[in-house]
Amino acid sequence: MRMRKKKHGAERIEACAELLIRDVASLKEGFGGLFDKDRPVHLEIGCGKGNFAVGMAKKYPEVNLIAMEKVPDVCCIALEKAMASKEERQNDNLRFLIGDARTLEENVLPHSLDCIYLNFSDPWPKSGHAKRRLTHRSFLEIYKKLLKPGGLLRFKTDNAGLFDFSLEEFEAFGARVIWQTRNLHATEKNADNVMTEYEKNFSDRGTPICSAWVTFSAEGEN
Ligand SMILES: C[S@@+](CC[C@H](N)C(=O)[O-])C[C@H]1O[C@@H](n2cnc3c(N)ncnc32)[C@H](O)[C@@H]1O
Repeated sequence: MRMRKKKHGAERIEACAELLIRDVASLKEGFGGLFDKDRPVHLEIGCGKGNFAVGMAKKYPEVNLIAMEKVPDVCCIALEKAMASKEERQNDNLRFLIGDARTLEENVLPHSLDCIYLNFSDPWPKSGHAKRRLTHRSFLEIYKKLLKPGGLLRFKTDNAGLFDFSLEEFEAFGARVIWQTRNLHATEKNADNVMTEYEKNFSDRGTPICSAWVTFSAEGEN
């Protein structure tokens, strides 16, 4: 996501410090003490301006959510949104992490996450940029390491090309697609869906939303 550099960005992020995980390496031992209570932990990668993260934390108080974004000025908007809606959350169950998903592998306790969300990830349409796509097998390797057995990768996109690529990567990697659709908003799962900024823009324009739920466990395994 491109954005003009924010004035006072660092100070504005600092004002939201209570919701910020300052150092990804602090997650090496797990998530103890990060939230008001231990709960299943979900991670959103590329949270953008934070609509999904804020909406999910409110709708699912039984889950602790970490929203990650690599562009500090974009995360600043998400953080401010989360601060402004603090009273609407039943639990203190939302934190933000500024950084690149590639840093997770070395810094997050293996098999500690219950769910990872990829929402409207950058499609990187040039074939030479395929390795940058967040569903490239090099990223799947990281997600597999971080998810608990039976944990889910939940992916949404408006981009049919990225969706096709992702399905091929899941299969090549040996991950199992347990559910998929090319029109999420027409399925029974839509009742539980929280829309992102991109999702709202695309669906307002009539673009159907593709989604896949993926597990790295073999069938019958937990
Ligand atoms: C197209 S935007 C979608 C934002 C939001 N998820 C939505 O659906 O409205 C993708 C976001 O992912 C972030 N992003 C891309 N690659 C990332 C990475 N490797 N680690 C963390 N964030 C990343 C970008 O900075 C951008 O804000």
